Amino acid sequence: MPDAVSAPVTLESMRRRLKACGQEHLLAHWDSLPESNRRALLSRLADLPLESLRAMLAETESHAGAGLDSVEPVPVHRRDQRDATRFRAEGERLLREGRVAAFTVAGGQGTRLGWRGPKGTFPATVITGKPLFRVFAEQIRAAERRYGRSIPWYVMTSPLNDAETRAFFKDNDYFGREAIDHFFLPQGVVPTLDLEGRVLLAERDEPAANPDGHGGSLRALRRSGAIDDMLARGISVMSYFQVDNPLVHVVDPLFLGLHASAPDSSAEMSSKCVPKRNAQEKVGVLCRARGRGGRTVTRVVEYSDLPRELAERRGPEGRLVFDAGSIAVHAISVAFVARLTEDLDRFALPWHRAVKKTPYFDPATGRTIEPDKPNSVKFESFVFDALELAERSLVLETPRIEEFAPIKNAEGEDSPAHSHELQSERAASWLESNGVKVPRRADGTVDARIEISPLTALEAADLAGVAIPQRVERGHDLVL
Ligand code: UTP
Repeated sequence: MPDAVSAPVTLESMRRRLKACGQEHLLAHWDSLPESNRRALLSRLADLPLESLRAMLAETESHAGAGLDSVEPVPVHRRDQRDATRFRAEGERLLREGRVAAFTVAGGQGTRLGWRGPKGTFPATVITGKPLFRVFAEQIRAAERRYGRSIPWYVMTSPLNDAETRAFFKDNDYFGREAIDHFFLPQGVVPTLDLEGRVLLAERDEPAANPDGHGGSLRALRRSGAIDDMLARGISVMSYFQVDNPLVHVVDPLFLGLHASAPDSSAEMSSKCVPKRNAQEKVGVLCRARGRGGRTVTRVVEYSDLPRELAERRGPEGRLVFDAGSIAVHAISVAFVARLTEDLDRFALPWHRAVKKTPYFDPATGRTIEPDKPNSVKFESFVFDALELAERSLVLETPRIEEFAPIKNAEGEDSPAHSHELQSERAASWLESNGVKVPRRADGTVDARIEISPLTALEAADLAGVAIPQRVERGHDLVL
């Protein structure tokens, strides 16, 4: 978010400023406010980047789909490629040397899911209902045990959920990990606009604001001191993932090793992808295209920006040409973020906009209104826009069932119920690869609920050393 204007604020100067920006409505309730609320309102308004809002709106219109005349598929690495063992060994070396941090972006508002509270506190697993944060914490614990070094965990929150997130970790005793190995960093916020471009009021004396997108993580890493903390601990790479995917491999040695072994030097930012389910699937696609600087770069093109002809194009074997669906998992070099954010005044990712429902203050009734249709414009920046600023970037394709079961919506696609099915499917595939008989329905889906704790196994091969049954009973629950 652009820096605020910091001249002494008086009512008159603020009125003039608001008038110049077409935002006079923000002082419409001034006369009805008690003195202390008036001071609070003036100071909140002074913090808003009012002069930049029009330019931010214009920017969101200008870059959608730009550079796609030159788009090509991105070359991808695969988990079964010839030299995979070497890359995995390299990633394990980084973990043993304590050079890897986990980085979760958990500042989103989770409006589609409708869970009250930070999304990381949502009960996500199939049988025991472990919260997402616990799932990741247990993976980190297991990896720390395996590699004999701590893996510090950086969690991006927002000013709207920071206190609750910290309290959740504290109340759960940091899930058995050292408190000192956690770093919470709140991201920035941007004003939320109505559909006419005016700042919405959340309260009579409070303009509405929303977190500035997962792209805000790069600024937040610098501003919070997290980058300095990483450098002081000798961390060279962050394993970046979203809070909503219980199947994510929080640290994946093969991916980290591949990232670190890019030709010429370590890559700066790498990505994982899964083959798209079909041409219409609503995921961003990793591809090569002209970037903002005119160079051909690796980019994520949002599904809504990918022209239909390209989305549906198929190669000789019938596979979609643009099928590298992004799962929002990245390896990001600490030196890369340090370079980008060295001068925060000069670093910005482009703004995107989303039209969403936002509760607002209604002066007529003095109440908060929950709108029944989208009424607001939210600005967000996307972390994958940093890809095109990277000198070197790799993509690893990974099987969808191994790593991707996001919880986004209350019902249907990407709902908790859908994620549970996928979690059971992965657990079943791990058991089957260890010789266990798993009941399946006529359509091939698993006819049981299965949950494997990260403390039991981080991957299928780990089950070889664990006491497991020879078969799973049809319709039964199994927790390992
Ligand atoms: P999404 O955009 O899918 O989820 O974010 P959301 O914003 O939480 O949910 P909706 O759109 O309101 O329903 C993907 C990931 O990026 C994080 C989220 O927490 C999630 O891990 N994120 C998103 C942030 O950390 N900050 C943001 O400003 C936005």
